[in-house]
Amino acid sequence: MAQIRLDKLVAQAAGLPRSGARREILAGRVAVDGRICRQPDQKVEQQAELSLGGGLLRWQEHLYLMVDKPAGLLSASRDASRATVVDLVREQYPRRELFPAGRLDRDSTGFVLLTDDGPLAHALLAPKHHVEKVYKVTLDCPATNEMVQGFSEGVTLADGERMRPAGLVIDPADPTRVTVTLHQGVYHQIKRMFGVFGAGVCALRRVAIGGVQLDPALGPGGSRPLTAPELALLRGAAGMEK
Ligand code: URA
Repeated sequence: MAQIRLDKLVAQAAGLPRSGARREILAGRVAVDGRICRQPDQKVEQQAELSLGGGLLRWQEHLYLMVDKPAGLLSASRDASRATVVDLVREQYPRRELFPAGRLDRDSTGFVLLTDDGPLAHALLAPKHHVEKVYKVTLDCPATNEMVQGFSEGVTLADGERMRPAGLVIDPADPTRVTVTLHQGVYHQIKRMFGVFGAGVCALRRVAIGGVQLDPALGPGGSRPLTAPELALLRGAAGMEK
């Protein structure tokens, strides 16, 4: 990942001497990816979005944000009456038309990718790419070997739709806790798959998309831009050039 000192990057981008860039940073006039940074020696991504005194110095064509969605938010850009996952970052990125690349149920938590890159979102969601998504799930009863077997063969939902084979790993310390790996995205898929076995989902948290792990440092409602290697992983998983 190409990182560079903030004062050097600001000096380059604003055409300032390094001392002038440092003054602006110490005065709190420089934001990196929407957040004020007052440390001239802070290492930042070379492609970070920089602003000086509220004016953008550099504009990336697209933004890719990893968000840890808390329960209660809709996976949508806007909603007339209810809060959405994009509301978490709207003030920070007022010039971006962000949307979630894939949905989590309102009561689910974890990794949502927000972006304004339509082609990447489309490719990530395209059924033919089978992009892997990993979920930590808590059930209202212990998971069974029958479920593991059924998931691996492909569960047939109550409406007759057959799901692709999915991974199911039971936590040996607590069999109500499981890890589910999906390669498709069907409405309420995990809840409906467990429903076939008479099990209910108490909590569902997405922890990875396309090999990119949710950053545990974010916490509920936290967000950060993807790093360059993370974006390359996602693009690869979506069958796009890196
Ligand atoms: N499956 C579900 O049932 N809900 C989600 O939010 C994601 C996958």
